[in-house]
Amino acid sequence: MGTFLHRPVILFLFLLSPSNVLGSNICTSQGVTTCRQCLAVDPRCAWCYQEEYGIGGSGASRCDLKENLLGGGCSPAAVEFPSSTLIIYKNAPFSSKASGTADDVTQIRPQKIGITLRPGDSQRFTVSVKQVEDYPVDLYYLMDLSFSMKDDLARLRILGNELAITMGRTTSNLRMGFGAFVDKTASPYMYTYPPAAVKNPCDGIHETCQAQFGFKHVLTLTEKVARFTEEVVKQKVSRNRDAPEGGFDAVMQAVVCKDRIGWRPDASHLLVYTTDATTHIALDGRVAGIVQPNDGECHLDNENVYNKSTVLDYPSLGLMTEKMSENNINLIFAVTKHVVPLYKDYSQLIAGTTVGELSDDSGNVVNLIVDAYAKIRSKVELELLGVPEELNLSFNASCLNGEVIPGLKSCTGLKIGDTVSFTVDVQLRSCPKEKSRTFTIKPRGFKDSLEVTVDFACGCDCEANAVADSSVCSNGNGTYECGVCQCHQGRLGPRCECSVEDYSPSDDVNCIPKPGNPICSGRGNCLCGQCSCHANEFGQVWGKYCECDNFNCLHFKGALCSDHGKCSCGLCQCDAGWKGKNCNCSTRIDTCMSSIGLLCSGRGNCQCGVCQCTQPGAYGDTCDKCPTCPDSCTIKKECVECQHFERGQYTEDNSCNIICKNEIEVVDELVFHDNDRNKNAVNCSYKDEDDCVEHFQYYEDENGKSILYVVKEPECPQGPDILVVLLAVAGAILLLGLIGLLIWKLLVSIHDRRDFARFEEERAKAKWDTANNPLYKGATSTFTNVAYRGN
Ligand SMILES: *[C@@H]1O[C@H](CO)[C@@H](O)[C@H](O)[C@H]1NC(C)=O
Ligand SMILES: *[C@@H]1O[C@H](CO)[C@@H](O)[C@H](O)[C@H]1NC(C)=O
Ligand SMILES: *[C@@H]1O[C@H](CO)[C@@H](O)[C@H](O)[C@H]1NC(C)=O
Ligand SMILES: *[C@@H]1O[C@H](CO)[C@@H](O)[C@H](O)[C@H]1NC(C)=O
Ligand SMILES: *[C@@H]1O[C@H](CO)[C@@H](O)[C@H](O)[C@H]1NC(C)=O
Ligand SMILES: *[C@@H]1O[C@H](CO)[C@@H](O)[C@H](O)[C@H]1NC(C)=O
Repeated sequence: MGTFLHRPVILFLFLLSPSNVLGSNICTSQGVTTCRQCLAVDPRCAWCYQEEYGIGGSGASRCDLKENLLGGGCSPAAVEFPSSTLIIYKNAPFSSKASGTADDVTQIRPQKIGITLRPGDSQRFTVSVKQVEDYPVDLYYLMDLSFSMKDDLARLRILGNELAITMGRTTSNLRMGFGAFVDKTASPYMYTYPPAAVKNPCDGIHETCQAQFGFKHVLTLTEKVARFTEEVVKQKVSRNRDAPEGGFDAVMQAVVCKDRIGWRPDASHLLVYTTDATTHIALDGRVAGIVQPNDGECHLDNENVYNKSTVLDYPSLGLMTEKMSENNINLIFAVTKHVVPLYKDYSQLIAGTTVGELSDDSGNVVNLIVDAYAKIRSKVELELLGVPEELNLSFNASCLNGEVIPGLKSCTGLKIGDTVSFTVDVQLRSCPKEKSRTFTIKPRGFKDSLEVTVDFACGCDCEANAVADSSVCSNGNGTYECGVCQCHQGRLGPRCECSVEDYSPSDDVNCIPKPGNPICSGRGNCLCGQCSCHANEFGQVWGKYCECDNFNCLHFKGALCSDHGKCSCGLCQCDAGWKGKNCNCSTRIDTCMSSIGLLCSGRGNCQCGVCQCTQPGAYGDTCDKCPTCPDSCTIKKECVECQHFERGQYTEDNSCNIICKNEIEVVDELVFHDNDRNKNAVNCSYKDEDDCVEHFQYYEDENGKSILYVVKEPECPQGPDILVVLLAVAGAILLLGLIGLLIWKLLVSIHDRRDFARFEEERAKAKWDTANNPLYKGATSTFTNVAYRGN
């Protein structure tokens, strides 16, 4: 047989096969030995059950990513890879109106879905809820008939009509019923002395009233309002001794006796509880020696009286919540002012209840009921019934304005006819024992529900073909299942070829990684030259030398692999979106993106999703605040200097690698990077120490990688021309000379003119002096011939 021939080879391979595949991926690194375990590691893992797979010397793991298995030679037919799916089985449209008859009213969509889930995987679906108009209403009035409610009873006699008319505005299909309660008929709750007081507890106050009772169902739900009034008129109050009443006994019976009360399946169920006193709750029964817990069953006798009143204790709040939810009952506490705070507290603890303040004579009870009903109808809250604990459900509500509210499974402020929807995420955390389970999602107080059946894809189909005592496993020393042998007790090896009894000390050498190390790392026994690792309370231990486990990894803030990865053989295998040795580093960069579209405003580096501002003076989540900062060009200039030219300040103080995390690309000229709609390219230029102008472009791609495109040749000014300089100098000298001459000339002329003017003036002065000199005598004398008369 082939098996026989293979055996030594197999043994050899098994012993020598190093754990070289460890760490290669999440599927191969967990040391799983069965198909079922493999599926549980991660939703991406597949199992190959082909008999000869991985034996030809490759040492390949049967548990691997599907593509690796196929690549490794596993035939597609031998790959177990169940995937998660979701099928909608029933999705009837909403009803618009409950118009009269109420059969087949649909208020939730879809109504039935089936999900197949791999462990660790999740599926998502949407549930929509719409409240139909004119929905039938069943209203059961549960009244405290202890003595203090005497005036309220009088008031209730005219209530029936009023209630019918007012509620008639909301629904055309109203039924009303009536029941009454006092307290358990046992001491110390009731009067037992004198003996006449049992029959007429009001004897002591000289009045007549009816004997005390626990709970009495009086009128089954009916549309005949006259009947309601008729029955109420017949009622008489009773009297009990202690202050609290036994109302919760009555609530429980009214909720669970659905046939006797007459609750219709297709109607809103309002249970109105009126009282002016506090109430007894679970464990109060002990005072009267009643220790048997309430069983949440109906115990009405032929007279419609609760006949286990003195046998069973009062119900607990939890039991009431459960039964109310099961029977879609909306409980309305209509209570007087001084007990409102108490019932408000109860209301917090019993889901689906509302509290209204009752006036002393119950005069406002109609308004109270109408308001409470409106409140009930204005809210849609999903409740979950029978969800297996292995499933994790999360919700997002999308209420009226389409806004998504994460983590919420209720909407308020709705009007009749509004549609709201909820996104539900179902995740399978671990594998339950059953193959499938069904749970229900329904709006609280509605009959309508969504039935979700979950098939757990935890097992492998090949398990069905397992062969017990298979010849493949060393002549019947194990069960052959999904391509591997599950050995019987005392047998070891991939084909169960080794027996524990065949102990030989020389085998121990195979269980020691290095001489001097403990056998099987001190965490296992050496059997047949193989380590059989001990079970460990912290987790799994595996590996050739039991050197691997899934609990000795780096912790961060107390969480293994920061809760963002799986521990495998000392190393954290981070989930998507995380990196780092302890997976505490987020790979997100959107958190670093500033409003101007630059990572950390260009003033720092995005590390683990958080900005580390490198620019002095910068702060803020995205380094966006920086009153003293230069712009991004000035910052990146230093990086160009150090990264490209290896000079400048950062080079001098060795901070280049810390501050500048850019990729440098040398280009001939700058281009416009609009191919990926990225408008984050900034053109910059600066003058370097040689007075050359360097152009560069600062650019960030969508992964946050920043690139500096640096133009190869800086623009430097041309050297000056000697001739031009000489000529310029000569010209300048010439010009200066000319100007000097001109100025000299100007000055000289001005001076000359002034001198001339003075000379002229003096000359004029000299003439005058001559004419007026008294000593002066002219050189000529004139004689006049008096007789001369011309010719
Ligand atoms: C209560 O009433 C039911 C129905 O009539 C009857 O079967 C049961 O025996 C009664 N229990 C007690 C304790 O009287
Ligand atoms: C269930 O899912 C919610 C949201 O995805 C998560 O916050 C919570 O921790 C999960 N619970 C468990 C027990 O895994
Ligand atoms: C709910 O919304 C949050 C944030 O928008 C999202 O991360 C999450 O996946 C949503 N969950 C579901 C069940 O839709
Ligand atoms: C187990 O294997 C041994 C050795 O191969 C063989 O002799 C023995 O018969 C097998 N045991 C059973 C129960 O088949
Ligand atoms: C991650 O863990 C390392 C080591 O404990 C720590 O130095 C670092 O600050 C952590 N990073 C984050 C983002 O928490
Ligand atoms: C940068 O310069 C290049 C080349 O001159 C030009 O095409 C581009 O539009 C400029 N970019 C910006 C953002 O000004």
